[in-house]
Amino acid sequence: MLCLQLLLTVGVAVAESGIDAWLRYAPLPSSSSHPALPSHIVALNTSMNNPVHIAGVEIQKGIASIFGKNLSVASQSQQAASSIIVGTVSDYAVAFGHPAKTPSLEPDGFWLNTTGEAVQILGQNERGALYGAFEYLSMLAQGNFSKVAYASNPSAPVRWVNQWDNLDGSIERGYGGPSIFFENGLVVDNLDRVSEYARLLASIRINAVVVNNVNANASLLSPANVEGLGRLADAMRPYGVQVGISLNFASPTANLTYGNLSTFDPLDKGVISWWTNVTDTIYRRVPDMAGYLVKANSEGQPGPLTYNRTLAQGANLFANTLKPHGGILMFRAFVYDNHINESDWKADRANAAVDFFQGLDGKFADNVIVQIKYGPIDFQVREPASPLFAHLQNTSTAIELEVTQEYLGQQCHLVYLPPLWKTVLDFDMRVNHKPSLVRDIISGKRFGRPLGGSAAVVNVGTNNTWLGSHLSMSNLYAYGRLAWNPADDPQIMLQDWIRLTFGPDPAVMKTITSLSMASWPAYENYSGNLGIQTLTDILYTHFGPNPQTEDGNGWGQWTRADHTTIGMDRTVSNGTGFSGQYPAEVATVYENISTTPDNLVLWFHHVNYTHKLHSGKTVIQHFYDAHYDGADTAQTFVTQWEELKGKVDEERYNETLFRLTFQAGHSIVWRDAIANYYHNLSGIADSAGRVGKHPWRIQAESMTLDGYVPYTVSPFEAASNATGIVTSSNSTTGTASTMLNFPNGTYDLAVNYFDMIGGTSRWQVSINNRTIGSWIGDNVDTGRLGHAPSAYLDAHSATRITFRNVTIAKGDVLKIVGTPDGIEPAPLDYIAVLPKGVVD
Ligand SMILES: *[C@@H]1O[C@H](CO)[C@@H](O)[C@H](O)[C@H]1NC(C)=O
Ligand SMILES: *[C@@H]1O[C@H](CO)[C@@H](O)[C@H](O)[C@H]1NC(C)=O
Ligand SMILES: *[C@@H]1O[C@H](CO)[C@@H](O)[C@H](O)[C@H]1NC(C)=O
Ligand SMILES: *[C@@H]1O[C@H](CO)[C@@H](O)[C@H](O)[C@H]1NC(C)=O
Ligand SMILES: *[C@@H]1O[C@H](CO)[C@@H](O)[C@H](O)[C@H]1NC(C)=O
Ligand SMILES: *[C@@H]1O[C@H](CO)[C@@H](O)[C@H](O)[C@H]1NC(C)=O
Ligand SMILES: *[C@@H]1O[C@H](CO)[C@@H](O)[C@H](O)[C@H]1NC(C)=O
Ligand SMILES: *[C@@H]1O[C@H](CO)[C@@H](O)[C@H](O)[C@H]1NC(C)=O
Ligand SMILES: *[C@@H]1O[C@H](CO)[C@@H](O)[C@H](O)[C@H]1NC(C)=O
Ligand SMILES: *[C@@H]1O[C@H](CO)[C@@H](O)[C@H](O)[C@H]1NC(C)=O
Ligand SMILES: *[C@@H]1O[C@H](CO)[C@@H](O)[C@H](O)[C@H]1NC(C)=O
Ligand SMILES: *[C@@H]1O[C@H](CO)[C@@H](O)[C@H](O)[C@H]1NC(C)=O
Repeated sequence: MLCLQLLLTVGVAVAESGIDAWLRYAPLPSSSSHPALPSHIVALNTSMNNPVHIAGVEIQKGIASIFGKNLSVASQSQQAASSIIVGTVSDYAVAFGHPAKTPSLEPDGFWLNTTGEAVQILGQNERGALYGAFEYLSMLAQGNFSKVAYASNPSAPVRWVNQWDNLDGSIERGYGGPSIFFENGLVVDNLDRVSEYARLLASIRINAVVVNNVNANASLLSPANVEGLGRLADAMRPYGVQVGISLNFASPTANLTYGNLSTFDPLDKGVISWWTNVTDTIYRRVPDMAGYLVKANSEGQPGPLTYNRTLAQGANLFANTLKPHGGILMFRAFVYDNHINESDWKADRANAAVDFFQGLDGKFADNVIVQIKYGPIDFQVREPASPLFAHLQNTSTAIELEVTQEYLGQQCHLVYLPPLWKTVLDFDMRVNHKPSLVRDIISGKRFGRPLGGSAAVVNVGTNNTWLGSHLSMSNLYAYGRLAWNPADDPQIMLQDWIRLTFGPDPAVMKTITSLSMASWPAYENYSGNLGIQTLTDILYTHFGPNPQTEDGNGWGQWTRADHTTIGMDRTVSNGTGFSGQYPAEVATVYENISTTPDNLVLWFHHVNYTHKLHSGKTVIQHFYDAHYDGADTAQTFVTQWEELKGKVDEERYNETLFRLTFQAGHSIVWRDAIANYYHNLSGIADSAGRVGKHPWRIQAESMTLDGYVPYTVSPFEAASNATGIVTSSNSTTGTASTMLNFPNGTYDLAVNYFDMIGGTSRWQVSINNRTIGSWIGDNVDTGRLGHAPSAYLDAHSATRITFRNVTIAKGDVLKIVGTPDGIEPAPLDYIAVLPKGVVD
């Protein structure tokens, strides 16, 4: 008995893999203080795979887990009085007569009433009833027993996620392991994870998943895969989640066992009947398929422009085949030419969406939704809202967000995204001088459109953490909440997620709130400031810093940085004219540098590094200061998290500590790379004297080397002093040693090394033959950090490990022994001997 009590009170210590995400239904700490629960559940539908039945089972499971109380589930009840009744409004009316106040509900909406003896959870449809059940459980799991009676309706009908899964099981921009949907060209046999994913998505009111990559493979349309899609749809249907698929525009000419046409011209009769057959065939197996997603004429993908047809003609081809089945065609606005010429001052990729969709407003079939990325370029750390939202007034639109952190740290950096998303959702376009918030445009309200909503690229994988990182799941949770209600507050959503994911401990709440809310500003600070974009390597991994890759190529993510100036001149008066794509009031703000906010100044204007911002700082000094501030903030994430030891289960505590420690180290790599790069380019000194000065570092290349040789790192800013060391052969050990000339004391010893793909080197560090520690370069090889790997010594592979509280006496000899493996030559950059509180 005593043991049992002890087990209950220390429940937090039980290791958790993360698989349950925010649906843990953890026992409440003081479970005695809750009001009496109803004695049973009435689910007004008995059929196994019906969302209402699932809702009943979910409530039963949740209450058993939270309160240790087993409720029975019945489909009908004599004692409606003390029950939790879940069903559709119409089934409720048949069973019990009309509810006192008939709630006003839209499709997928629900009514939740806990004021009386019976709890009413009534959906406008079955899916709505399930959403209501999850809402009720979310309250209970957070220890919220307030008496409420309210209706909740979605802001928009389309609340989708996009998975960029390939049929071979890999995921483009996936950082949480391989696909849960596909392997070896086919849908997987075991769909348990697919059902669990649908359950998670239903709990945040997502109603469809596009399961395959927008860079689509036509063989998804093979008979075996159509059958596979049917199984996926069957696995998700009980949760009210529909399947959608991405299509390759040129599929009719793909070498499939059928069709094999010589054209994919969207106006060709043979092509139309080919797609009509494909669509009819899929709907025979998946009668409730949500629809198609099409990426056309973008980044090498085929599309209607190949045949001089308009994008609308291309979209309508699919929309017409979907129409009889009630399906929706999501057509991506991400259409641009990736071979533009930087020597043309007026060339601008940001102009592409409005340019390509010019003249097409109103030409799209009514079941087409144009899916628009939040900004005009590509999921950058800060972008102005895409002006296309203001142009499509007779066409339904949806916003495209990205939960998977492609340009934003790939789940190896904590970046809580809703504050970034809100800069766009809450942006007022002032169309015709009237309030025109982006969130009211996508909901259909502003222009009176019947359809609209949100899509987010998510890319969960087989990892138990789904996205690769426990803390990143707040982004998925909040995405669902925002798709339902884009006016929701980022911090309130975050705190609900924290309670559900980690429990009610106020210390846990305070710390995770603090980390998460500081994370996007910190990441912006140490990656790319003032609207210059993320400054990552756009030609390779999209992970670490590599600012020169932005320029000198046709991708158009240019910064136009030279020795004296930086920024894109997007004005009408002297630049690319992009600012003129906004409605007049907004255009005026961005056209003039005096009214452009500092955080977008380099997006809209080409200026000297010495240009004074509204803040009073110069552009270059802002870069330096922001990078040092951002990296300093990231260091505090580690110490803040450590205060939660014992308050979060060990498994999640350890894994999160590991990632935050990586982030703290990598934020210094970012800081140094960007600061050095622009210092070198501009020749302007940091007024605070930090850039290029590292009093606590010892460069590996300056140590006494035996079996190690210096290696010139490219790009130069990816290594301290542009140089690292590698073993002279990949079969023999290397040794680097140095005398430490720091005053006697206790230091943190940081070692910067490179963790490349293709080998698992080993290192051991000792002082005067006393081993301080050892480690292996396996983060990317084992998927421990799932970011896009690098096969080079660069700013993607650059990694820091820190040994705390090392006692050092002046004159001690430090030695690192590196053992190479595969193509990884035990590479090292530098060590830093850090007194308490120093970041170097
Ligand atoms: C809420 O449910 C109770 C039954 O438990 C019912 O008596 C009451 O009328 C309902 N409230 C509203 C506003 O419908
Ligand atoms: C088409 O596919 C078949 C079977 O998969 C293969 O044998 C044939 O070589 C392919 N033809 C072309 C032109 O790729
Ligand atoms: C119709 O489409 C299905 C699925 O894509 C395919 O298997 C079948 O061969 C097609 N039939 C015709 C007549 O093209
Ligand atoms: C498209 O139009 C261009 C110029 O108008 C022409 O050169 C080209 O041949 C046309 N292409 C096709 C496939 O009709
Ligand atoms: C105006 O544009 C030219 C390029 O056409 C550029 O060289 C110049 O710096 C711009 N002027 C200003 C004030 O930005
Ligand atoms: C940069 O400063 C120089 C000298 O003060 C000035 O002539 C030039 O117009 C400035 N360039 C820009 C782009 O503002
Ligand atoms: C967490 O890390 C500590 C310290 O490294 C280790 O002792 C413990 O076994 C780890 N626990 C889990 C569950 O991984
Ligand atoms: C920096 O690297 C160069 C070689 O690239 C080397 O000669 C020099 O000693 C290094 N400086 C330090 C402080 O290690
Ligand atoms: C380390 O050990 C080696 C051999 O065991 C010895 O020759 C050397 O003096 C030791 N170095 C120090 C600094 O103690
Ligand atoms: C899942 O992630 C953990 C921690 O990030 C990692 O150690 C593990 O290898 C991953 N497992 C899979 C199956 O991807
Ligand atoms: C530093 O520590 C060494 C070894 O413990 C000792 O011999 C030396 O006297 C110390 N120096 C100072 C200045 O305290
Ligand atoms: C050793 O490294 C070289 C180049 O870094 C690589 O080509 C070679 O495959 C490696 N050897 C082994 C056994 O991995």
